[in-house]
Amino acid sequence: MAAKQPGVTVRAPAKVNLCLGVGPVQGDGYHPLATVFHAVDLTDTVTVRPSKRWECTVTGPYADRVPTGGSNLAMRVAQRLADECFEAGPVSMTIDKSIPVAGGMAGGSADAAAAIIAIDQLFDLQLTKLDHQELATDIGADVPFILAGGTALGTGRGDQLAPVLTTGRYEWVFALQDDGLSTPAVYAEFDRLNKGRKVPLPQAPEEMIAALRSGDPRELAGALSNDLQEAAISLMPKLQKTIDTGLAEGALGAIVSGSGPTVAFLCADRAAALDLMVGLTASGVADDVVSAGGPHPGARVVSNIRTV
Ligand code: C5P
Repeated sequence: MAAKQPGVTVRAPAKVNLCLGVGPVQGDGYHPLATVFHAVDLTDTVTVRPSKRWECTVTGPYADRVPTGGSNLAMRVAQRLADECFEAGPVSMTIDKSIPVAGGMAGGSADAAAAIIAIDQLFDLQLTKLDHQELATDIGADVPFILAGGTALGTGRGDQLAPVLTTGRYEWVFALQDDGLSTPAVYAEFDRLNKGRKVPLPQAPEEMIAALRSGDPRELAGALSNDLQEAAISLMPKLQKTIDTGLAEGALGAIVSGSGPTVAFLCADRAAALDLMVGLTASGVADDVVSAGGPHPGARVVSNIRTV
């Protein structure tokens, strides 16, 4: 095994689901989805360097909540590639985290997607796009989208992707909570709330796709939807107040991001986003507030480290 360079740094975006249609749970424990993913410029940065032993360091505001062993999805990717590819070996990994942990924004998936690209490049594995996609799907349902970025329709478990045409850039404000929500727990709550109801298979989100083509944030705001929102609010009732406050403070639309508990607010423009950040912070309905724009590209190499 030999690394081709001293280190590689890859940046990967967070996502918000602009609409998230969820069908009835299947035999494999997963729910069929019809969702539109949207990548935003809130990013994690993963750096890998060859090392004699496995190491993982996490920096940034959420560092203390990120595991550094085998349950870290990025480390899982690196160890798996070392097992499967003769050329790859142990790495020292640094994850600079800005994406909230267990926040419904695919933070762990972003690190995993970044690791796929970083390890491939570090050891010159020459993996194909298909290899990347297959490994991504195996690691988690959101990882393939983070590789792709932009705005995409996701079906199946969310891993069957087709790009969606969008016009313009959308400005978002995210209201974060210190406590995370576990994705499997939110899906289980969705099942509990829907017990006895006939849950239909999710439909292609035509209204959302038309809104994204229009480029009009007001139209997009009207098309936001999330079938997991009821379950996320059931597990964390204070989210309803967060949503109501953001709308009263001028957001065009509000939605729980993925399985939550982050709430995403769509704003008319950058100035409105900054005003909303001030209003939400003052109201105390979120533990932290950040802004980001989308769509944003998927996981990308930002630097090849050429000196040790
Ligand atoms: O694939 P991933 O590990 O990201 O999914 C985490 C959990 O979320 C799954 O184990 C499952 O409980 C739930 N999930 C689901 N249906 C999906 C995606 C995720 O039930 N389409």
